[in-house]
Amino acid sequence: MTVSSRSGSWHPASWRGFEALQLPEWPDESVAEAVHAQLRALPPLVFAGEARRLTRALAQVEAGNAFVLQAGDCAESFDDFSADSIRDKLKVVLQMAVVLTYGSGVPVLKIGRIAGQFAKPRSSPVERVGDLELPVFRGHIVNDDVPIPASRVPDPTRMLTAYHQSAATLNLLRAFTKGGFADLSQVHAWNQQFVAGSAEGRRYEAIAEEIDRAMHFMRACGVDLSADSPIHQVDLFTSHEALLLDYEEALTREDSLTGQWYDCSAHLLWVGERTHQVDGAHVEFLSGIGNPVASKVGPHTEPDEVLDLCERLNPEQAPGRLTLIARMGVESVRQHLAPIVKAVRDAGHPVVWECDPMHGNTFASESGRKTRHFDDVIGEIQGYFEVHKALGTWPGGVHVELTGDDVTECLGGIGDILEEQLPLRYTTACDPRLNARQSIDLAFRVAELLRAG
Ligand code: PEP
Ligand code: CO
Repeated sequence: MTVSSRSGSWHPASWRGFEALQLPEWPDESVAEAVHAQLRALPPLVFAGEARRLTRALAQVEAGNAFVLQAGDCAESFDDFSADSIRDKLKVVLQMAVVLTYGSGVPVLKIGRIAGQFAKPRSSPVERVGDLELPVFRGHIVNDDVPIPASRVPDPTRMLTAYHQSAATLNLLRAFTKGGFADLSQVHAWNQQFVAGSAEGRRYEAIAEEIDRAMHFMRACGVDLSADSPIHQVDLFTSHEALLLDYEEALTREDSLTGQWYDCSAHLLWVGERTHQVDGAHVEFLSGIGNPVASKVGPHTEPDEVLDLCERLNPEQAPGRLTLIARMGVESVRQHLAPIVKAVRDAGHPVVWECDPMHGNTFASESGRKTRHFDDVIGEIQGYFEVHKALGTWPGGVHVELTGDDVTECLGGIGDILEEQLPLRYTTACDPRLNARQSIDLAFRVAELLRAG
């Protein structure tokens, strides 16, 4: 292994000297290199100052003064890309944030899994489709999901498409969040029609009416709400898994103000359950960028490994720098998370804790489709809150896969999606996502847990 960033040798390309899992082999390295050169010449998608602002906001979460909602697609898709789908995802995130803030009284920091969440780690390099064994789909930034051999060949020019789709997505998100769509006076307009008639939708509408009344009351008292920007604009930060390291390297730029390197593909980058080896390439890459970073923590991770990760990713113990996203599964969360949280707490490492109640609860339905049960998702969040309550630590946030569409990918919820309904609207490019109704229901449950805590 080469020397680590701690000895000052970190560079955007230093990960190349470490073992790198889950990366595609580009069939023609010279094409990949030409793409890297083009990416390096393209403008950054986010600015270093924004990433630093997110670190400060996460430090507030770490201190127990705010809660994070990190949410979005499992895998963004080149095929399902439209203004409507971006808008509808944003609507759900805004609705969930309103429910959480109103229900718990705690400010909610919003981070999307969006505008760059294209690369997917996979459990197996191959997939069986009928009689055919195919290279696995690795996300639209690498290959295509159509189950024929030609589609599965990694194509580096897809990195350029991913960049441009991320730029267009981010542009629209910035317009929506700063240009009036996310104004609190629009709180009713975020309730989509298929949600509005449901139990979750009506519960949301009741909160929206109370917010309206509160705003009327404040205006009647002479408060000038037009001058108050938090009512008219929101901050939505972006994030994705830093999996495809040559893409991330090409978008890493030196900040002219501080001389520090920032990965300008998103505000926050994380390493997944399959790539968080402390001596691996992905952790090496994250260790040297100035952005806030995160790591998933699964049921097979030992407390000592987590402490090593804390040392490696946040040696200076800067608050807000490191988020740990526990994805244990409902059966494991109480038993496995408690010793890890305790070890981190006792070592004095400042971390933001998040609960990803999705990835430890995936199973194959009878029809073979991957799914998750809403009760397991809620059950894991409950276990996560219990662990933090017992240890006196702050259950800083949740990390969920969702869509604004009326999909039938996760079972259960108030609308009670049944096994036989899964094929009706199962459109995910990778993992099963909560639909808008299930997402809002989840926000109500989390708000109750926050209030109870
Ligand atoms: C994901 O977040 O989509 C993912 C693959 O998660 P994990 O690394 O926790 O399995
Ligand atoms: Co996923």
